[in-house]
Amino acid sequence: MKINDVKNVCVVGAGNMGHQIALQCALSGFKTVSTDVVPAVLEKAQKFVEGYLPGRVQKGKMTEEAAKKARSLISFTGDIKEAAKDADIVIEAVLERIDLKRKVFADLDKYAPPAAILATNSSFIVSSRIADATKRPSQICNLHFFNPALVMKLVEVVQGPHTCPTKRRSA
Ligand SMILES: NC(=O)c1ccc[n+]([C@@H]2O[C@H](COP(=O)([O-])OP(=O)(O)OC[C@H]3O[C@@H](n4cnc5c(N)ncnc54)[C@H](O)[C@@H]3O)[C@@H](O)[C@H]2O)c1
Repeated sequence: MKINDVKNVCVVGAGNMGHQIALQCALSGFKTVSTDVVPAVLEKAQKFVEGYLPGRVQKGKMTEEAAKKARSLISFTGDIKEAAKDADIVIEAVLERIDLKRKVFADLDKYAPPAAILATNSSFIVSSRIADATKRPSQICNLHFFNPALVMKLVEVVQGPHTCPTKRRSA
């Protein structure tokens, strides 16, 4: 997959990191679905988006058109299967627990299209501890955003020994 093939993003976990990663993706022009298992978290994430975008327009930091476009590109669902079904890349940002991440990746392996890249935003867990929970280890990597993701411009892309070299070159 080449970078220009990436149109649809799924962000799993809408907590501290996930909700801002999702909005950053939508602001960057990607159709983005944000999902979380806690309905109140998802509601909070949606409210944040609906407050943040008009706020940026009011401050003159963003055009109304750009805000409208970003809002139209981001959606929220509690159903991970639905969230992942069209994803070209999934960014996992759930709690920092290896058992949970492995379970989420095993589920994503079933729900996301076969070509999709599955990335973890983990700060400490390397993707080699997660990759074998899926049948697509060559498409697994770390994609580490910094907090707050809407402000910090740096994203670390970390390959593992399992990450396919061609995918590494074209990611
Ligand atoms: N907080 C930071 O400064 C920071 C910075 C960079 C990376 N990270 C990494 O980002 C990840 C998330 O951290 P955070 O601070 O956003 O955590 P958080 O606790 O704020 O959010 C995690 C979210 O995951 C959700 N969740 C749990 N199980 C889920 C499941 N099965 N499906 C969907 N959602 C689920 C929780 O409901 C919660 O809303 C961690 O791996 C962490 O290492 C955190």
